[in-house]
Amino acid sequence: TVGEKWWKNSIIYQIYPASFKDSNGDGIGDIKGIISSLDYISSLGVDVIWLCPMYDSPQIDMGYDVSDYENVYPPYGTVQDMEVLIEACHQRGLRIILDLVVNHTSDQHKWFQESRSSKTDPKRDWYIWKPAKYDASGKRQPPNNWRSVFGGSAWEWDEKTEEYYLHLFCVEQPDVNWENAETRKAIYESAMEFWLRKGVDGFRVDTVNMYSKHPDYANAPILDPKSDTQPAFSLFCNGPRIHEYLSEMNEVLSKYDAMTVGELPNTHTLEGVLRYVSAAEKQLSMVFQFDLVDLGMGKDYKFLTTFPGWNLRDLKAAVKSTQDVIKGTDAWTTVFMENHDQGRSVTRFGSDKTPELRVRSAKMLSMMQSTLSGTQFIYQGQEIGMVNAPKEWTIDEYKDIDSLNYYHMTSQVTNKDPVELEKAMASLQHLARDHSRLPMQWNADVNGGFSSSSDKPWMRPHDNYPDLNVKLQEEDDSSVLAFWKQMNQLRKQYADLMVFGEFEIFDEANQSVFTFSKKSKNQTLVVVLNFSDTEQAFERPDTGKTDWKLLVGNVEDPQEANAKPSNIKRGGRLQQTEF
Ligand code: NOJ
Ligand code: CA
Repeated sequence: TVGEKWWKNSIIYQIYPASFKDSNGDGIGDIKGIISSLDYISSLGVDVIWLCPMYDSPQIDMGYDVSDYENVYPPYGTVQDMEVLIEACHQRGLRIILDLVVNHTSDQHKWFQESRSSKTDPKRDWYIWKPAKYDASGKRQPPNNWRSVFGGSAWEWDEKTEEYYLHLFCVEQPDVNWENAETRKAIYESAMEFWLRKGVDGFRVDTVNMYSKHPDYANAPILDPKSDTQPAFSLFCNGPRIHEYLSEMNEVLSKYDAMTVGELPNTHTLEGVLRYVSAAEKQLSMVFQFDLVDLGMGKDYKFLTTFPGWNLRDLKAAVKSTQDVIKGTDAWTTVFMENHDQGRSVTRFGSDKTPELRVRSAKMLSMMQSTLSGTQFIYQGQEIGMVNAPKEWTIDEYKDIDSLNYYHMTSQVTNKDPVELEKAMASLQHLARDHSRLPMQWNADVNGGFSSSSDKPWMRPHDNYPDLNVKLQEEDDSSVLAFWKQMNQLRKQYADLMVFGEFEIFDEANQSVFTFSKKSKNQTLVVVLNFSDTEQAFERPDTGKTDWKLLVGNVEDPQEANAKPSNIKRGGRLQQTEF
């Protein structure tokens, strides 16, 4: 639509540098590998790349523990390589955004090294230090019962200066003290402007609602009586000063007309979301809501029970919550089903039981994503329908700190109970962050073409790469890849409907089929998605129109499928009509 911001109608392709393309055979992806893949990325019909953290880091949390914002992790390359990448993107008409990780730094960052050096250091107040508490028996206790997102206490005792510091994520990720204005200024300069001056077009903003903690650091309510730590999201998300901080940050960003997409966990009301993304609030361009990717995760992943699954009604409600953000508001929203913290969408929301179902559900999910309003995000490998790691793989193949903490804690708490450990493994098989971090599958060569290394790359390539890879799919018009390219192109062609149209669900209660419409001023698009493994009767919703035209389908012969509207298989079809 004319006059809209460029990022609204953009398709953004997310790259996880360690797992995308290794240019020098050391088993780790790198920036030169990304540069060599830009033709491929352009061929997808995307507009922007989002690069996950490539900053210098001890990699305890895969770069979300930054030790130097102004340098690049040496195995990935150099600042100069980044300059080449930025330039090469712009030459092709691609934009590039980076990950902004400023709720915490690495404990190896020089700011924290100084801060922990003594209680009187000028940077002491740049992090969140608190004295110990003592229980009745005189035993030292942390300042409160908050649990870190990765498990265990959110406080770490520091022997040298005899205080605790806060880390909402792992011990090596101390939280920065945003209350300190000097610290905030240093963040804007080092983490943002350093890269904005080099021409980056914006940021994905990590854990954007956690900078302002509830100032009294009260204990969280006891939800898990068996544990001495408690989930405390309500006390560290959306705190009292968060919007003040984001306004200030926005002033810096607007000097460069940079876009932002904030990661917004634990925010479930429309009102709460709008505070971040209403244009009038001048905070962020858009956010990622978690309702959809959290389906089936709930408490269970962290509380040692089995993976509970999910149902289609809840999925529809989750989709609706993102679409409602723009209904009659001045706000903007996002569409995504995968990222580097999630299992693969085909495994979670479709089916990878057979190759046929895998391909159909990958296309169906592509159809769903591509027809929803908001800025579209595709995670590397999603465009070829990559799936979760094989079930036979043991915990030894998992590398993520969150997965390993969870598994080891289960082991500890249950005294290595094999039944509980098996349940933990079942949860990891669905939800572990590792699945999306398996190497990109380029071709059938060694390591799926990701790396020429004769040793195992940093993560084991999926066993299915000989049959599921970019090269095979580029040669096949009916591939998942070809389908995504087609959807990306249709999304541009029918932007009024797909990107900006008004969303309505027709079959809220149906647990097998998801039917929704998108309306523009004079057109209606109807999307029918069969989430089950079997054929389903399809009732065409009454939109007052009769002259339907099939736009795209994921069954082999869409014309035939159109002729028999009562028998749709997994994947459904998409139709649109004109007045
Ligand atoms: C969200 C990131 O996506 C995740 O990978 C990371 O572990 C946490 N934030 C902490 O930075
Ligand atoms: Ca490399």
